[in-house]
Parts: sequence; C-alpha cells; structure tokens
Amino acid sequence: MSTESTTIRWEQDRTGLVTLVIDDPNQSANTMNQAFRDSLAAVTDRLEAEKDSIRGVIITSAKKTFFAGGDLRDLIRVTPETAQELFDGGMAIKRNLRRIETLGKPVVAALNGAALGGGYEIALACHHRVALDAPGSKIGCPEVTLGLLPGGGGVVRTVRMLGIADALLKVLLQGTQYSPRRAQENGLVDDVAETREELLAKARAFIDANPESQQPWDKPGYRIPGGTPANPKFAANLPAFPATLRKQTGGAPYPAPRNILAAAVEGSQVDFETAQVIEARYFVDLAAGQTSKNMIQAFFFDLQAVNSGANRPKGVEPRQVRKVAVLGAGMMGAGIAYSCARAGIDVVLKDVSLESALEGKGYSEKLCAKAVSKGRTTQQKADALLARITPTAEAQDLAGCDAVIEAVFEDTSLKHKVFQEIQNVVAPDALLCSNTSTLPITALAEGVERQSDFIGLHFFSPVDKMPLVEIIKGERTGEEALARAFDLVRQINKTPIVVNDSRGFFTSRVIGHFINEGVAMVGEGIEPASVEQAAAQAGYPAKVLSLMDELTLTLPRKIRGETKRAVEEAGGTWTAHPAEAVIDRMVDEFGRTGRSGGAGFYDYGDDGKRTGLWQGLREHYTKPGYQIPFEDMKERMLFSEALDTVRLLEEGVLTSVADANIGSIFGIGFPGWTGGVLQYINGYDGGAGAGVGLPGFVARARELAERYGDRFTPPALLVDKAEKGERFSDSARG
Ligand code: NAI
Repeated sequence: MSTESTTIRWEQDRTGLVTLVIDDPNQSANTMNQAFRDSLAAVTDRLEAEKDSIRGVIITSAKKTFFAGGDLRDLIRVTPETAQELFDGGMAIKRNLRRIETLGKPVVAALNGAALGGGYEIALACHHRVALDAPGSKIGCPEVTLGLLPGGGGVVRTVRMLGIADALLKVLLQGTQYSPRRAQENGLVDDVAETREELLAKARAFIDANPESQQPWDKPGYRIPGGTPANPKFAANLPAFPATLRKQTGGAPYPAPRNILAAAVEGSQVDFETAQVIEARYFVDLAAGQTSKNMIQAFFFDLQAVNSGANRPKGVEPRQVRKVAVLGAGMMGAGIAYSCARAGIDVVLKDVSLESALEGKGYSEKLCAKAVSKGRTTQQKADALLARITPTAEAQDLAGCDAVIEAVFEDTSLKHKVFQEIQNVVAPDALLCSNTSTLPITALAEGVERQSDFIGLHFFSPVDKMPLVEIIKGERTGEEALARAFDLVRQINKTPIVVNDSRGFFTSRVIGHFINEGVAMVGEGIEPASVEQAAAQAGYPAKVLSLMDELTLTLPRKIRGETKRAVEEAGGTWTAHPAEAVIDRMVDEFGRTGRSGGAGFYDYGDDGKRTGLWQGLREHYTKPGYQIPFEDMKERMLFSEALDTVRLLEEGVLTSVADANIGSIFGIGFPGWTGGVLQYINGYDGGAGAGVGLPGFVARARELAERYGDRFTPPALLVDKAEKGERFSDSARG
C-alpha cells in the first residue's frame, strides 16, 4: 500500500482544499521518474482515504516549470527486454491519474510554468486547466519530435477533449509548443492568469463553483467531438490523414506519427480504459525502437551539450557583444544584421554605398512588418529592433564596435581589403569574424594584424530561420576568440558547433557528398525522378537535384578547381568523382547552370518556379530499364555523408560527436530520424541485411564500395571502432 511521497507535497487548508505541490528534491525540474511514480501512488491513496474531508484539489509545482515530462535518461535506455517494465510503470501512472480524475472532487491544474509532454498529461487528467502567462512558458505534447507519443493518457484525453482531427493536427502530430495564450485559443487550457496569486485564485474559484466535477467523457451520453470512424461521415475523411502524414515525413522512416494516428483512431472506438492500454502499447513500441533513441540523443542530449558549451574553452570570462559591425549588406549580411538586432545588439551595417546598406536594412523592415502583422511581436518592439540597425557606407561609423562579421562577396582579396579598411577603426580588441562559406580561415586571417582574434562564423541561409552557426578555428585563432565567438552565437540564440579549419569546413564539405551522389546516379542512367524520390524517402528535407540547382552547378566546379589545385600542390593525386562529368556536361554542353540561370536539372518558369525535371536528362543520361535497389539509392546518399564525417574526425577537423550530429541535422538537412550523421552509424539498423550498429555499417559500406566505387570504403577509424565494439560518443561527456 502506501509509500511515502518524496516529490509531491501535500498542503491542506481548513476548508478541505488540498494543494499538491510537485517538487522533486533531487532535480531542477520535475520528471516522471521512479520517485514521482511512488509519490503519485502515495498521494492518490491518501486522497481516496481522506476523500470525505476533501473539497477539491489543486495540482501545481514549486519549480520554475510545472513539469518537464518523461525522464529521457530512463527512456533512452529502454530495450525490448525492459519494455514490459516500461509498460507496467506507465500503466501505474495512468491508473493513478485516472483515480484522481474520478475521485468525485474537482481537480484543477495550476500550471505555474511550462507543461510539456508528461506535464501536460497530468493537466489533462484534471477537470480544469489554468496557465500562468510566464515568459517562455510552453504547453503541449512535443513527444513526436523525439520519436515518441504521449503515453500518459495524452492521446486518449486530447482525442476526447478536442476530437480526433484537432487532437492530431493541433497537438499530437506536430508536437507544437504553445504559449499559454495560444494554448487557450486552441483549447489546450481553459484559462490564463497574469500572476501566481491570480493563478491560484482562479483554481480556487473553479473548485468553489464546481463541487462535483466530472470529465465530459465520464458523463452519460458523451460522444467524441466531431465523431469517430464509426460515423460514416467521419470515416470518409480518415484516408486524408495518412496522406497528411506522408506529406509531413516525406515517406521517411518516422514511426511515431504512424503510431500516434493508430493510437488515436483505435482508441476512439473503444472505452476509456481499453484506449489507455492501446496507447501504452504503441508508446512502448516506440520507446523500445531505434528511432526514438536516435532522436532523444540528438534533439535532447547532443543539443544540450552543444548549447551549454561543452566545446567552449574553459576559463575565459563570458562577454556580451554590445555593438557589431556587419560588412556587406547582401543576402547574408542583411540576415545577420536582423538576427543581431533581434537579440538586442546594436548593428552598424556597412556596404559600398548607403543605398545598398539601406536596402540591407530593408530586409529587417520586411521581417518586422511580417512579425507585427502575424502578432508575433508588437510595433513598439519592432521599432526598437529597427532603431538598433544603422546603415552606412563610411568606415568611421564602425568606431566602438566590439565585434565584426564580414559577409562581402566570396573573394579572398576583397575580404582582406575590407578588413584592412576597418581594423583600426573598430574597438582595439574587437572580435573579427568572416562568414565565408568555403575560403580557408587561416589564409583569410593573414589579411589582418591581430590573427589570434580572427575566426570563421559560418551562418546558413536564411539566417533568421536557420538555427546553426559553424564556428571555424583557424591555425592562429586564439582560445579567447573561440570563447567569444561561442558567446556571440549564443547571445543571438543560435546553436554553435566548433570545427578546425579545412576546405569546406564540416558542413559544406559533407553536403557536397550528398549532392555528388545524387548527380552520379543520374550519370549512371538511373531515372532522375527515382533519385529525387530516394532522397525524400531517406528523409532529406530537400531533394538532391533540386538542391543542386539552388546552389548552382558552377559552384561545385569552382570548389573542385580550388580543391584539386590544393591537393596537387600538396603532392597528392586528385580522384575524380563520377558526378563531375555529369555536371561538366550539363554546364558546357547544355548550358544549364541551375535555378539562377533559368535552367538546370529542372526547368523553370518565368517566375523562377520549378516546372518539372528537364526532359533532356532522360534523353542524354537515362538508360531505360536500368535500376539499382532502392535501398542502395537511399543508403548511397546517407553513407556518403556519414563516411566523410568519419574522415573529418580522423583529420581532426571535427572534434566532437555531438557537434557532428547537431551540425548535420540543423545545418545541412541530414535526416532527423537518424539522430545525426554519426548517430546514424551508431544506430544503423541493418536495413539491407548487413547487421546492426558499427559492424553492420562497415559490412554494408564494403558492399557499397564493391558495387559503386572506392569512395564507400570505410575509413580506418570506423573499422577500428567497429572491431573494438565501440560507438561514436563524446567520452568526456558520456
Ligand atoms: P551577396 O552578393 O548577397 O552580398 C554581398 C554584399 O557585399 C553585397 O551587398 C555587396 O555590395 C557587398 N560588398 C561588396 N564589396 C564590399 C565592400 N568593399 N564593403 C562592403 N560591402 C561590400 O552575397 P551573400 O550571399 O550575402 O554572401 C556573402 C558571404 O557569405 C560570402 O562570403 C558567401 O560565401 C557567404 N555565405 C553565403 C551563404 C549563402 O547561402 N549565400 C551561406 C553562408 C555563407
């Protein structure tokens, strides 16, 4: 029977109002760990035993957030062998929440801060939900973004509260995290409070007014809003859902949306208790599978390690940038200026003429107007942001800037020139950054006097949306500059990965392999539409040939020329990639250079929109009837990127596994279900029968090398790790 409650405090007033305060003494946030499960059982027993003296219950927390959800450290360790344990533990929580829900007394969730996942599921078991409108507070069920589903009754109850369609589209399938106000608009909470006092007052008022609360679904005659598949009208709409799912996942192997859909639909046709069991089974199926482990590793643990500065040099005092000089107000400079100003940094935006600089600021004006019209910000905040950006063409206006971010044309001598113009105008110890996407940082640094303060800060386009920045340490970059660059990226709320200098750094070099592999397949004679489909089904957000067109076909030629020269100068021999001949012919023979040139692998209309794959590809390249296994097509793309990432580790360009995983997903669109480019190797599922994990990956790479070329030969580091039974992890961080 009753164990003691260690994480839920019982407070009772003279009127019989019980407040349950969740407050895990061992963690900064409340999670569904064993201590919570035991405490929940204990307070549930007590509520039932003392029911006659209780008038109502408020559930709240003593932490900054209400409740963080499942304990991911536990969940990532679930194996098929321990799955039953997870099922039993989950059912115990569900049973206890159900006992509280059917106690016959009003129960109110007073959400004093973020209530995500398991936290929101506790709130769902209450009869009324009030949320404090605290800054940054979020509400919802983001489980799908970690490859899971809400297994604490979240599917069962949102379906019954909102109807199947709204539950799926607004809560479960996208995992949207709502602000308290938006949560109220969408029916996730009933009321919002401005202060903690008001929060508790509103909770008490509900209890006073509803002495005998019952959930709608426990009242006689209850029907799920909007109907269920038993209703022919609703059933007619059901086939649209799998199509929505396919659109969301591109046919890539994300099992969570599929399980969510099944749990919602199957659970809607049975009684509440059976629906709970169905939900638990689909939850455990996901938790025991590889995809949720990959996604938890990347989107929780790796992301946390990267953002918390596992790679930031220790011992350098954190410093905030107050005024930044952005050189070049083109596409990248304009976006960088906006991101800095949004973070409260003063920006001096310099271009060759005031007109160009004003045009660059115009980009921020456009983004601000849009944000105001969509209600994402206020006019006052937008005006303040814009007031922080000063456009100019004069070097002396950069006086006092404590950081410089250069984003002029991709040309070494021009970059040298612009740094020379300003290096003695800005603050004497200003951090000097270049946003080059391809030029080696060490050589660029030779153009400035203080080489140890010079560093690469590689943003991605569009800057306001892309969360990643790749920091590139040149040979002479100092530790202090690295720490300051890291702090600057965090100051503008982006995620910094750190790499050592090398041609193409990490991201540009690795994405090149993906594109080359797709192009090579066209050259072999494979139907181009199948190549595009393979990329989509592997889970890439952009199809490979359309991406090539966006980047322009002349870019890889330019990079190839420079790289080849460098390799040969160093006494090496250049090994041509089969994609090169395809690209050369596209450019030289057919004059097709990509989207900006009006024609590439695709045709384009006058409005610049794709109209379809170029028919000439079939005429000049496709061998009718020639195909290779679809699995090979997908894995050639994924393996080409994973293998080169291992080479980058060998070469010391990459020094952290978490950086590689996060950089690949957030910078270059490596599919999220893999957990990133190295976690993909760790979690290799042996799809083509080669075995799992590193040994399976090595065996499969050798198979691909035999069929498609030496570029798939596994590097020594990988073979060595596979033989030792190791995996890719940042051992220092566990
Ligand atoms: P862009 O052509 O849109 O803008 C370059 C700007 O620099 C123009 O406004 C030009 O007037 C200005 N400029 C030229 N000479 C100048 C000078 N002496 N002083 C001040 N401004 C000058 O080019 P974009 O795309 O913005 O690229 C800029 C840099 O960012 C390049 O190094 C590029 O490789 C890099 N980059 C580009 C990415 C992309 O997706 N376009 C991604 C990441 C980095």
